[in-house]
Amino acid sequence: MRLKDKIGIVTAAGSGMGRAGAIRFAREGASVGVVDVDAAGVAAVVKEIEAAGGKAKGIVADLRGDANARRIVRETANAFGGLDFVWNHLGHPAPASVEGIEMADFALAVDLNLRSQVVTTEAALPELRARGGGSLLYTASTSGLVGSQFSPVYSMVKFGVVGFVRALAKRVAKDGIRVNAICPGATDTPMLRVFVARPDQQSTLGRDPEELVRQRAGQNAMGRPGRPEEMANAALFLISDEASFITGAALPVDGGTTA
Ligand SMILES: NC(=O)c1ccc[n+]([C@@H]2O[C@H](COP(=O)([O-])OP(=O)(O)OC[C@H]3O[C@@H](n4cnc5c(N)ncnc54)[C@H](O)[C@@H]3O)[C@@H](O)[C@H]2O)c1
Repeated sequence: MRLKDKIGIVTAAGSGMGRAGAIRFAREGASVGVVDVDAAGVAAVVKEIEAAGGKAKGIVADLRGDANARRIVRETANAFGGLDFVWNHLGHPAPASVEGIEMADFALAVDLNLRSQVVTTEAALPELRARGGGSLLYTASTSGLVGSQFSPVYSMVKFGVVGFVRALAKRVAKDGIRVNAICPGATDTPMLRVFVARPDQQSTLGRDPEELVRQRAGQNAMGRPGRPEEMANAALFLISDEASFITGAALPVDGGTTA
């Protein structure tokens, strides 16, 4: 078991890649704080983990609130007796256009891709130090490595995630804390449907979302979308001690998109 006796948190764990990660980490021996705003999603993931003999604590939280972004650390550490890792997976697609942008949409993209990550990190660092080290993982995107013509604002915030990861990694390495990002390409989750059919993206108007998904995913070298489980595999590696000399990395998991 690659995370035996470790204690961790996965945000946005009620669906998609976060769900796959929470289930996989528990199978690898971790006790997992399963965090999402969607109560039904949280309950289903906790049930699946426990049915397989794993340990999970469901935490329903809207991470747009700073108090919630801190609370998830406290509740997980209290439930299991400490904290070893956090996968800050939450994100938001952001509006496609800059022209006509609603600044409320911009603020939401910043809050869900950057702000909640900073707040949760602030709460987690003392817990990780108390255990003599740990691992922080963030979800950026291929759009955080190369500019996305589909949403300049999404690229802006995901480049921000990568910058935060690279800088924080240098500051906390001496504490035994590793900090990394995964950069998924198009991955088969509900959010991919949101990405490809953003309402302010003229070319998508009236088109079948599944056709748009096939078209977008077909643009990578492998010609298919990633599976949530493939992202969970990469996340597991970066969180686990197998990646003991890897910090400050932003790993593309993208079927060759950024190659
Ligand atoms: N799916 C892709 O193609 C893709 C590609 C690159 C990066 N990403 C990134 O992956 C992450 C999204 O993962 P996914 O594709 O597995 O998404 P998903 O659509 O399967 O799940 C998103 C989850 O986030 C939860 N959520 C939304 N707002 C929340 C809030 N305020 N507080 C707490 N939880 C909230 C939802 O309830 C949902 O369960 C984001 O960081 C996104 O930017 C996705």
